[in-house]
Amino acid sequence: MHRFMISGGNPLKGTIRVSGSKNAALPIIAASLLIDGECCIKEVPRLRDVEVMKDVLTYLGATVSWEKNVMRIDARNIHGYEISEDLMRKMRASNLALGSLLGRLRQARISYPGGCNIGSRPMNLHLKGLRTLGVEIKEKFGYITAEAKELKGTDIHLDLPSVGATENLMMAAVLAQGTTTLRNAAKEPEIVDLQNFLNCMGAKVRGAGTDNIKIDGVKKLHGNEHSIIPDRIEAGTHIIAGAITQGDLTVTNVIPEHVEPLTAKLKDAGVGLEIADDWVRVFTHENPKAVDIKTLPYPGFPTDMQPQIMALLTLSEGTSVITETVFENRYKHVMELRRMGADIRVEGQTAIVRGVPRLSGACVEASDLRAGAALVLAAMAGENGSVIDMAEHIDRGYERMENKYNAVGARIIRVHS
Ligand code: EPZ
Repeated sequence: MHRFMISGGNPLKGTIRVSGSKNAALPIIAASLLIDGECCIKEVPRLRDVEVMKDVLTYLGATVSWEKNVMRIDARNIHGYEISEDLMRKMRASNLALGSLLGRLRQARISYPGGCNIGSRPMNLHLKGLRTLGVEIKEKFGYITAEAKELKGTDIHLDLPSVGATENLMMAAVLAQGTTTLRNAAKEPEIVDLQNFLNCMGAKVRGAGTDNIKIDGVKKLHGNEHSIIPDRIEAGTHIIAGAITQGDLTVTNVIPEHVEPLTAKLKDAGVGLEIADDWVRVFTHENPKAVDIKTLPYPGFPTDMQPQIMALLTLSEGTSVITETVFENRYKHVMELRRMGADIRVEGQTAIVRGVPRLSGACVEASDLRAGAALVLAAMAGENGSVIDMAEHIDRGYERMENKYNAVGARIIRVHS
């Protein structure tokens, strides 16, 4: 187990560069299974979740090399279509290989990805959409077995704009016969990046970023090169780090439009922001004003930023109301923030955050990736020292977070225990 020992009270000053997006890299790496050739993917973040997706491809027979942030994948000779249970248990997003395996091999077998700390995370929308494409699906003994004699393009309406279901169905449809239309599709920037990746490999996808995506099936995809977009959630986390420590931080390699839901809220909270074409500077010398937050699919306020902005709002002047509408169990960080002196009450899907003048250090535990990030933010702002257990959760989504923050004035020591 890894733990972070953090001394609080140091304003962050300087520049932090954002890495490539985890949630764009994972579907794009899975999509490389569709390609009858070698692809080169740049700006791939060095993250544990990306390591697991690489292991999935290697397990299926693809050749994968990964030097610094460049990954080269050759899936010409994949020999398997089943993803082992232990790989599936390591990361739920391994289920993103379902669509590309069906697109390429017309068959796939994965064990049911377990729920996780933030919710049950079912796959019913993925499976319903695949059945509409002509896939025969059996769910037995905890496994999903999928097979299709042929994949015929059709119209699919998603009951809700699921990111993963949208991505899996895009990947299953690119080599299908005819045209597939996804209605009520997710509009996240990572979906647009997946469309751009597929199209530069010879697919015909349009409409990503809107709720209506059209995919014209093609015969095969060829290799090419692609660069992953910056991680908007990492960017948002760093912007909040600058605000919560009352520092002066410039976050670079940012697409401002992708973090607009957050920066708009921070402006309402009175946080100083300077926004340019590919960087955001955050500066403040006081606690934020209270603001209300409601998480929604993009372009609403992202659920993946809910724990982080809650950490900031624990120090606000006034009372903030946070409503989590995307996941049913995403308040595990509340107990831990309370241990640091925060005044938060949860009623159902709503958290009422009454601002306090300061947080104190404490021993806390990261329950998942974004909750862990929120605890780091709170600990950096808190008085005296904090210990964060289970810090390995944080490595799933942030490249050596402690190095990036220590380079701008934080004092974080990683301890392997
Ligand atoms: C993606 O997860 C992200 N992960 C999540 O980021 C993110 O929180 C989520 O989208 C929402 O933006 C990756 O991209 C790898 P969903 P995904 O399908 O695709 C329900 C992080 O911290 N649902 O959009 O699993 C589901 O239960 C992670 O980086 C169904 O009911 O999210 C949830 O309540 C956490 N049936 C809601 O939809 C389905 O078939 C949104 O889930 C699928 C989803």
